[in-house]
Amino acid sequence: MTEKELRALLDSMTIEEKLGELWQPQQLVYDKDGVLTGAADTNTYTPEEIYRSGSTLNLFGIDRIRKVQEEHIKNNPHHIPLLFMGDICRGFSTIFPITLGYSCSFDLELIKKAYRVVAKESAASGFHITFYPAMDLVRDPRWGRVVESAGEDPYLASKICAAMVEGLQGDGLDKPDTIGACVKHFAGYGGAEGGRDYNTVELSERTLRQYYLPGYKGGIDAGASMVMTSYNAIGGVPSNCNKHLVRDILRGEWGWDGVVITDLWATSSMTSHRIGDDINDEKYQAEVSLEAGIDIEMGSCQFRWLADSIKEGKIDEKLVDEACYRVLKLKNDLGLFENPFREMSEENAEKLLKCDEHLDIAKKLSTESCVLLKNEDNALPLTEKSGKIAFIGPFVDLSTTSGGAWVLTNDDESGSLHNVVNKHYPGNDFIFAKGCSGLGREQVRESKRFSQYSDEQNREKDISEAVNIAKKVDTVVLALGECPGMFGEAKSRANIRIPDVQLELYRRVRAVNENVIVLVFNGRPLDLSEINDAKAILDVWYLGTMMSEAVTNLIFGKESPSGKLTMSFPSFVGQIPVYYNKLPTDHRKEPYWSEYIDDSSSNPLYPFGHGLNYTTLKYGKTVFSKERFTPDETITASVEITNTGDRDCCEIVQLYIRDFRATVSRPIKELKGFKRVDIKAGETVTVQFEINEEMLRYFNIDMEYVSDAGRFDAIIATSSAFEEDEMLPFYLDK
Ligand code: NOJ
Repeated sequence: MTEKELRALLDSMTIEEKLGELWQPQQLVYDKDGVLTGAADTNTYTPEEIYRSGSTLNLFGIDRIRKVQEEHIKNNPHHIPLLFMGDICRGFSTIFPITLGYSCSFDLELIKKAYRVVAKESAASGFHITFYPAMDLVRDPRWGRVVESAGEDPYLASKICAAMVEGLQGDGLDKPDTIGACVKHFAGYGGAEGGRDYNTVELSERTLRQYYLPGYKGGIDAGASMVMTSYNAIGGVPSNCNKHLVRDILRGEWGWDGVVITDLWATSSMTSHRIGDDINDEKYQAEVSLEAGIDIEMGSCQFRWLADSIKEGKIDEKLVDEACYRVLKLKNDLGLFENPFREMSEENAEKLLKCDEHLDIAKKLSTESCVLLKNEDNALPLTEKSGKIAFIGPFVDLSTTSGGAWVLTNDDESGSLHNVVNKHYPGNDFIFAKGCSGLGREQVRESKRFSQYSDEQNREKDISEAVNIAKKVDTVVLALGECPGMFGEAKSRANIRIPDVQLELYRRVRAVNENVIVLVFNGRPLDLSEINDAKAILDVWYLGTMMSEAVTNLIFGKESPSGKLTMSFPSFVGQIPVYYNKLPTDHRKEPYWSEYIDDSSSNPLYPFGHGLNYTTLKYGKTVFSKERFTPDETITASVEITNTGDRDCCEIVQLYIRDFRATVSRPIKELKGFKRVDIKAGETVTVQFEINEEMLRYFNIDMEYVSDAGRFDAIIATSSAFEEDEMLPFYLDK
């Protein structure tokens, strides 16, 4: 449709029809064959109301989608097609690693390719929009949704968000193999106090803008078509009615004109924030949401009362028109008026879902996501020197390698480590044993939710068997971690250690065998201090479909690890929040110092940017092309890196800058650039970064985004774990 036709359509709609476009009923109002049931289980909607709605969510099945779309178009007064949206976060059928995992690859091109795959498989299966990327900055690993984040760095998050949006939206929404991206949860959702999901957030305007918003903005600048507001309140203002966030920043300052949707039931859940109550104030909640800039209400159906608000003169109809036009425009951008089924077909799905090309991309991204945290005596990779090997632990036979976080397609079965190791290395006399259950009485005591992972009855028998095996072999590979479902939405943890029963297994095995290698399966950074005397630790997260293939290749040395942490792993829970880009304090020496008195450092066990590979590297000094530059110039920082080991590697080289002279306190180190660089054994390479004035901007005392003249320090390093005095100065002249 032309813009004129679209405007004419809008003009021909009644207020009820326009408000209908702003409502997204949950799929439960359709039965399993996609036939409208009239009234949902918990809410009463008339068929007319449902046929006026603009979109639906998480409705799976090509036949169902086709049927629902056909019925809808037939019965909608203007024959406007529905938008099918859903949480296709890590893949439709080919499941990719958790986002926190693949953020460790720092591989923007590959992430973009992965999200092209997500788009193609989803479009073939009938979806138009995915509620992803979730780019909530996180500093607290107790929060279960760290699994969906790209970690603690705003610069990296903005780049990853852009790559995901570019992958999903490809060459434009008019191409039928794309889907729209919805950047969420706007804003600051990851700042939940105590790491408790949905909890309140207190962020100063500066911290919000400097650290929490850039991730989302990366996706906005890349052209994301939607934004979802978050459940939390910042400073007491829920995002759902936060005009400042949506109208001032997102639409005003950022000049973005896409569709804003609430999170599920968020309009009604304003009651939990006590912004009105659910009996008397449904209309009021709808009014403040619309006024704040919300276009679509997900789940709840309160916008229907806005027709009255308009009659009463409380709401300007223009706001409804604007919101409705944005929804219609999105449908038009997707080409739905001409082709409401786009790329969806059984044939396309058959051809694309889990095709070889997609699996290859998943395998590569899974391989690059793993992070080798330690590797004493080159315990990894496993070679002949490893002698006889036993694989022990509750995750050796794990076949749901998605970990459960946001895989809604019932399609997450894949080969267990046990099967894949045997497939690739047949005829080896490896020993496999369960060792223990995923959880013991300590964790399931109070929660029935995880009781399927507990097996107290066999606890002693399983552990003793493992100990006996460990005594007889040369090397033990222990597969330990968090059980599927221990991370994700509403899965906060106060104690982020590996579950106790597994720690018991670890200690008893470690007591009889020094050569223990731990593979950590996790959805969040864990406190690994209790297993830190293992010879090697490889963090394998939850990697999805190709998990076991990737892990097998890495541990046997067919591939080398290259991932670097994007979120610090604390030394103990009491340190949290612990993140690398902290502000300085001068209180560094006893007695008036900022350390803990009970003998624990404030440093994380494994910091941001840390990750080993199977070789050794030597970094030279950072050198600048010149020491002073002006805003219209750039300088380069470069470093020589020598691979001093005997294996080729890929190193993620990182540029950190410190602003030495600003109008507000600035972090000790901030990531400003990164590159994945292949370095052959024995080779020396020079790696260069450009530095320009724009990279030095920040929100100053007057909240202007500017740079100051004066001194900056920089270093090109292998991780964030360098001392401040290793950085070297350069100057911006103005
Ligand atoms: C709630 C979650 O917070 C959000 O991320 C998700 O997209 C919606 N539910 C829809 O499932």
